[in-house]
Parts: sequence; structure tokens; C-alpha cells
Amino acid sequence: MQSKALFALATTIVAASAKNILLTNDDGWAATNIRALYRDLKAAGHDVIMVAPAEQRSGYGGKFQLDSSNTLQYDTLFSYPPAGSPSWGHEEDDLNVWYYNGTPAACVAVGLDYIIPTYFNNISVDLVVGGPNEGNNLGERDFVLSGTEGATFYAVERGYPAIAFSGANSNNSFFKDNLDTDPNHAPNIYSKKSVELIQALFEKQGDNPRALPLATGLNVNFPVAGSDLESDCLDPPYYQSRFTGSDYVPYAIAYNESTGLVDWANAETGTLDVAAAGDSSLPAEFNVVNGCASSITVFTLDPDAQKSAVDQIIGNFQSLLA
Ligand SMILES: *[C@@H]1O[C@H](CO)[C@@H](O)[C@H](O)[C@H]1NC(C)=O
Ligand SMILES: *[C@@H]1O[C@H](CO)[C@@H](O)[C@H](O)[C@H]1NC(C)=O
Ligand SMILES: *[C@@H]1O[C@H](CO)[C@@H](O)[C@H](O)[C@H]1NC(C)=O
Repeated sequence: MQSKALFALATTIVAASAKNILLTNDDGWAATNIRALYRDLKAAGHDVIMVAPAEQRSGYGGKFQLDSSNTLQYDTLFSYPPAGSPSWGHEEDDLNVWYYNGTPAACVAVGLDYIIPTYFNNISVDLVVGGPNEGNNLGERDFVLSGTEGATFYAVERGYPAIAFSGANSNNSFFKDNLDTDPNHAPNIYSKKSVELIQALFEKQGDNPRALPLATGLNVNFPVAGSDLESDCLDPPYYQSRFTGSDYVPYAIAYNESTGLVDWANAETGTLDVAAAGDSSLPAEFNVVNGCASSITVFTLDPDAQKSAVDQIIGNFQSLLA
């Protein structure tokens, strides 16, 4: 009798803190990092619905691209699923794990507007999570480039609290080959750190209907960590950071004489040291993840410039304004 009462109490506690989470990324539903986080968020007691791209969609930013066919016209990454499969579907043995052949932002919409209403009784989503991305997403440059961040800011636009996580293990790795339970492997470290942050937010949320204020989100980056990345960094602590900052490195290109192509390069400028909003003393994400440390940047969707800059610039053509 007593043990039954205890059991009932334990289930109530789990139920009270269980949240509905929509999970996506840009590396595709077959990526190891997202499968590790799916596993661990479920283990923490949450109801997780994953809707992620059928293939690698890195670099698509917030692009909203839907499939124009019901059938996959080509093999996806790791042929998972192969050409000829439906353009969206779920794991045979798990109705909560879906792919959709579209961009990451489109996957969030397909989750919110089709899969959840159709297959999940239109449950309300408490949090949208992107990642952990395979590769860091640093600064304003990746805010507009990364599909994982694009999905996240799309979710914020839709009114949901959302977090983008990105890890430094930029390897397109297939979960069927790479997902394991070694706590010293990067996907498991990033997943554990992500769950830690998500749990902290939910605990503070209490009875509040939202985990984060309307129109805000978080961008989180993890450094090189784990024995699979030959690093002895195993538990990188969190630091608050910002998108801009003195060591901001935008992308550039370099012409390659031997291939006749232009390659990715870094612009050697440290010029984006402008803090239009927020605390300019915070370190850039670039600096934080250089060490055994993780960065958390709070963002809003309002990209308007600081009022003093706007007034000065508008003043230049005030006479033209109606
Ligand atoms: C699902 O719920 C959302 C949010 O409460 C609502 O806006 C939407 O109309 C619902 N969709 C369906 C198909 O019931
Ligand atoms: C990177 O991905 C490939 C392809 O899935 C895999 O064979 C390899 O083990 C991965 N490497 C690491 C360090 O995860
Ligand atoms: C040009 O491209 C080749 C082939 O990808 C590469 O091996 C080489 O390092 C590149 N050269 C430069 C200067 O980046």
C-alpha cells in the first residue's frame, strides 16, 4: 500500500514537470547529435516530437522550402530514407520521430501545423529545440546562415520559446553507426548539457505558461569536447555571450588557382564590435567556445538598430519622409 502511494507520488512529480517539446535540426533526422538529445529528453520525462529534414540542410538559414512531390526524388544522406520513399514519414517503431523533405524552418511548420494536429491531438508545444547542430553556429553570420538557427527563429516568430544548440563536432555522422552511451563522447556531452539547460528553464518556469518571454530565444554553442574529438573537455560550463563582439570573424571567399573555384575563407577583420542592444561587455560566442566553455546568447527577433543610430541616419533624408 505504502509503496503504491509512493509510486503514485513519483508519477505525479514526473507528470508535473513533463513538457511537450518539438525537436528539429538542419543536419537531418539521421544525425547522431539529434538522436542523442531525443533519447535524453525522453529519459528526462518529456514528450518529444521530432520533425527534422530528410537530408542535410545546413546553410539554409530561415528558408521556407516545401517539397513539391509526395515521393523522394533522390537518396537522402546515408540513404535514410532511400529515393522513392514518401516525402515525409516516421520511424517504423516510433511514431514520435519524423522526417520531412523540406528546410528546417519548414519542418517546424510541418510539425506545428500538420503532424502535431493530425497525429498528436494538437497538443500544445512548450518548447522548440534545434540541434545540437553538427558544427558551431557563431555570431550574426551564422544566425542568418544556419538552418538550425533558422528553424529556431522561425519558432520564435510563431510565438514559441525556442533554443538552438550547436556542438563543435562537425561530422555528418549517422546515428545507426555512431550513437552510443559513452558519456565521454561529444554527442552525449552536448545532449547532457542541453538537457541540463532545458531542465533549469522548466524548473524556473513554474506556473508561468512560457519558458522564455515572447519573441526571445537562445543560441547555445558547445566547444570541442569528448574523447571522440580527442579532447579532455568533458563538461564545458556555461557563459553568457553575444552575437557580435571584438573577435567576430565573418566568412569570406578565396579563389583557388588549382581548382578554379572559390573556397570558403575567413575575413581577417575584427570589426563587428558594435553592440546595438544588450550588454557590450559580454564576450563574443567565438571567444567563449575557444576554451572548454559553452556560450548562451539571448536573442530577440527585433533587428532594428539602436534608436540613436536610427535617428541619425533617418535625419539624412528626413525631408523625403511623408
Ligand atoms: C492547434 O492548436 C493551435 C494552438 O492552440 C491552434 O491555433 C490551431 O488552430 C489548432 N489546429 C487544429 C488543426 O486544431
Ligand atoms: C563521422 O561520421 C562517419 C559517418 O557516419 C563515421 O563513420 C565516423 O565514425 C564519424 N566520426 C566521429 C568522430 O564521430
Ligand atoms: C585548393 O583546392 C585544393 C583541392 O581541394 C586543395 O587541396 C588546396 O589546399 C586548395 N588551395 C588553397 C590555397 O586553399
